[in-house]
Amino acid sequence: MCGIVGYVGPRSAQDTVIDGLRRLEYRGYDSAGVAVVRDGLLAVEKRAGKLANLEKVLIEAPLPRADIGIGHTRWATHGPPNDVNAHPHAGGARRVALVHNGIIENFVELRGRVEADDHVLLSETDTEIVAHLVELQVQSGVDIVTAMQRVCQQLDGAFTLVAIDSHEPDKIVAARRNSPLVVGLGDGENFLGSDVAAFIEFTREALELGQDQIVVMTRDEVLVTDFWGNPVQARQFHVDWDLSAAEKDGHDWFMRKEIFEQPRAVADSLIGRRTAAGKLQLDEMRLADEELRDIDKIIIIACGTSFYAGMVAKYAIEHWTRTPVEVELASEFRYRDPIIDATTLIVAISQSGETADTLQAIRHARSQKAKVLAICNTNGSSIPRESDAVIYTHAGPEIGVASTKGFLTQLVACYLLALYMAQVKGTRFGDEIDEVMRQLEAMPDHIDKVLQGAEQVYELARSHVGSRSVLFLGRHAGYPVALEGALKLKELAYIHAEGFAAGELKHGPIALVEDGLPVLCVVPPRGRDHLHDKMVSGIQEVRARGAHTICLAEEGDTSIEPYADHLIRLPGVPVLLQPLVAIVPLQLFACELATALGHDVDQPRNLAKSVTVE
Ligand code: G6P
Repeated sequence: MCGIVGYVGPRSAQDTVIDGLRRLEYRGYDSAGVAVVRDGLLAVEKRAGKLANLEKVLIEAPLPRADIGIGHTRWATHGPPNDVNAHPHAGGARRVALVHNGIIENFVELRGRVEADDHVLLSETDTEIVAHLVELQVQSGVDIVTAMQRVCQQLDGAFTLVAIDSHEPDKIVAARRNSPLVVGLGDGENFLGSDVAAFIEFTREALELGQDQIVVMTRDEVLVTDFWGNPVQARQFHVDWDLSAAEKDGHDWFMRKEIFEQPRAVADSLIGRRTAAGKLQLDEMRLADEELRDIDKIIIIACGTSFYAGMVAKYAIEHWTRTPVEVELASEFRYRDPIIDATTLIVAISQSGETADTLQAIRHARSQKAKVLAICNTNGSSIPRESDAVIYTHAGPEIGVASTKGFLTQLVACYLLALYMAQVKGTRFGDEIDEVMRQLEAMPDHIDKVLQGAEQVYELARSHVGSRSVLFLGRHAGYPVALEGALKLKELAYIHAEGFAAGELKHGPIALVEDGLPVLCVVPPRGRDHLHDKMVSGIQEVRARGAHTICLAEEGDTSIEPYADHLIRLPGVPVLLQPLVAIVPLQLFACELATALGHDVDQPRNLAKSVTVE
């Protein structure tokens, strides 16, 4: 959600900024803009719609060649996505240009102040007000850094701000509170980005900015302070993936590439988790064994796909550790006055590490003395930084807005956490944990096998372009898979899709069943007969009412054949691990159906990869 780029150095500022914005497109946006400074003058260009609209204008009329520039992709909050509301915004005298990600909560009051000063505002954004405030400061005689400090001290809400002043053309100043920003450290050049993808082409050395910090950047120097100008030490880190990981690699969509990367992503997420003696170790786990032994309740908080990973985790953690687990949407958690204390472990699952609702939820939990463990894919992001412990998922960069490999690797991290807690609490014997680890280590091959059947799923998807509604059914760990399968279809194909626990069918959803309605059914493995047989009964019930049943069932399960209009085979795996293979055909189905409908799979309408506002 909103992408920010800044550049100072010898390259063309316009081109470097546009390159960075292209790499941030996946975050979701509806307008884009760029500003540079040359010969003491500000030049700004911005357009509604995709980056291509802006690039078209810049090909016809490029901005002056400059070595300092800022850029922005905007996901509209205040005011519709049009040319005027697009960022960057300039102050009244067009001396300062500024871009912003977040929401300024006291903007009404600030707008009053600016308008009382006879400033004319052109847009409906909160950002333009901040541009005017910063410009007012520099016009009063202070430098751009002091101006930024003074303005930040007046702002409430969430913001990353990046500004340039045409009178100080050698520096960029940026500030962050509750919204993401990282610095890319180059040689004789420096970069800013909402995430490292913005500058990964040029440098893999990065600096993590903390809460309420300001960074001033010239070609050769990067200085970080707090909002009052006191120097602070920012953490430097090395990005362990490169440009090729962020390219499509011959696939039509990032999402499809990411689906096919899942065997590798799952394998990477398992690397180094066992000692030579075979015991589980979680390197980034900063909670002591005694602290974990004291935990008597776990609450998992997350949004979207990460929430469904949390639902699967509940089955695994409760089964292996006998510790009660609640799973809660991060956006609801804070508002229900949750019962938490020092013996509660909060597990925050977030691919991006920047989801505003999840971040606010962990802050609330920590204020109540609970321990927080993050499961996250993004090194240097806010959620792991503000947690007591972290398990990184090693999926590599996920660019497609709809999460795929992020989900599978979150599941792996959840299983590892559950098994680690079982080891520490002594609720499972060592050889049982070993056995599950062996089964997990076999999963990349199983996922690969499912992917080999992609063509069959694609054909099925293409035959559903006319469907207006699709149901998904599952039980036990297959229930969150049904929910995630339905979410993928909604997100990408814009088709009405609902996931249900199969046992709930008779309590309402069965009324939706009519002739020809496609119903995708995740059939549990046969080892758990009570689950399997109940699911088969549910499938018979919908089929008897005219549904077109598409069943995902393990190889050799012949009992399902009479009731499946279409059968997709899954490798035989334990029920708790089945989500790792069962979700893959549902991802392929949604991706292919959306492609057949002509939709932009990587950037679905209205969605953002990382939702950085509440
Ligand atoms: C957005 C994305 C989803 C993602 C959710 C949670 O809605 O479009 O794909 O699952 O945010 O994101 P997180 O980064 O916290 O996992």
